[in-house]
Amino acid sequence: MSTWIGIDTGGTLTKLAYMNDQQELTLTVFPSNEMHLVREWLEKHPQVEEIGLTGGRTEQLRDVLKTMKSIQYIVEFEATLKGVRYLLEKEGHSISQSIITNIGTGTSIHYMDGNSHQRVGGTGVGGGTLIGLATIMTGISDFDEIKSNAFEGSRDGIDLLVKDIYQGMDTPIDGNLTASNFGKVGITEQREFDQNDVLATTQGLIGEVISTLSIQLAEQHNTDHIVYIGSTLIDNIQLKKVIEHYTILKKHKPIFLQDCGFSGAIGALINIREHHKI
Ligand SMILES: Nc1ncnc2c1ncn2[C@@H]1O[C@H](COP(=O)(O)OP(=O)(O)OP(=O)(O)O)[C@@H](O)[C@H]1O
Ligand SMILES: [Mg+2]
Repeated sequence: MSTWIGIDTGGTLTKLAYMNDQQELTLTVFPSNEMHLVREWLEKHPQVEEIGLTGGRTEQLRDVLKTMKSIQYIVEFEATLKGVRYLLEKEGHSISQSIITNIGTGTSIHYMDGNSHQRVGGTGVGGGTLIGLATIMTGISDFDEIKSNAFEGSRDGIDLLVKDIYQGMDTPIDGNLTASNFGKVGITEQREFDQNDVLATTQGLIGEVISTLSIQLAEQHNTDHIVYIGSTLIDNIQLKKVIEHYTILKKHKPIFLQDCGFSGAIGALINIREHHKI
């Protein structure tokens, strides 16, 4: 039986989705600046006949793979949406209309309605921003370390809440909302901050920017659900909490997918299967 693989080569990470003869899905990831690892992986899996390829670094990966295998290219947003539809069904979510927010290196936002979809927005604030700000501010650049340290941190001494401004008064909006991310720093004397607190606050900023934009787009398109995907969310408890809290507060329904980083790779794989009418 022919075997195929889907590859999504993004700004930071290259994701592989491979299905063996027993129809078991294997998901693997490599840094996009070490593309030779993809070539080596393929050399170890000679049974793979065809590659479904997507993502912004497709041409660079094509150069590395040369004419090793037959390649079927699919536009990134098409692949992502195919993968999201597959994962929604697999993970038991029966929704057909939703905002899809992909928190990759940057963030891209889509509106899905049945089988159609369109890109409706985006922001340069994403997983790359997290790594960039964390590295500059704390010297920590490892994603796993950033996540676990952020989980231990507190935003209380750095973010300015609405209730911090409206002291002793009724607040015009929910007092627990962030009035200004990092805003307490400019109006207090403290100049030394705990690294974990800085990381937690950075994730707070990123999560709130992304969810606020996603919520506005959900309102514009009259849709309740927002599906958040992208490798930035992988095992990232604190970031998910920030996004979930804001989304629910604004009366929308957040959905997090288990295999959140692999929508594009899975979509590129599904695309070949469809091509072969399997
Ligand atoms: N092993 C890892 N190494 C580095 N970053 C990681 C890792 N795992 C998760 N991340 C986080 O995920 C982000 C990349 O997410 P994702 O793989 O969805 O983006 P991408 O597809 O590479 O980028 P884009 O879609 O914007 O081109 C990184 O910026 C980082 O925050
Ligand atoms: Mg991507």
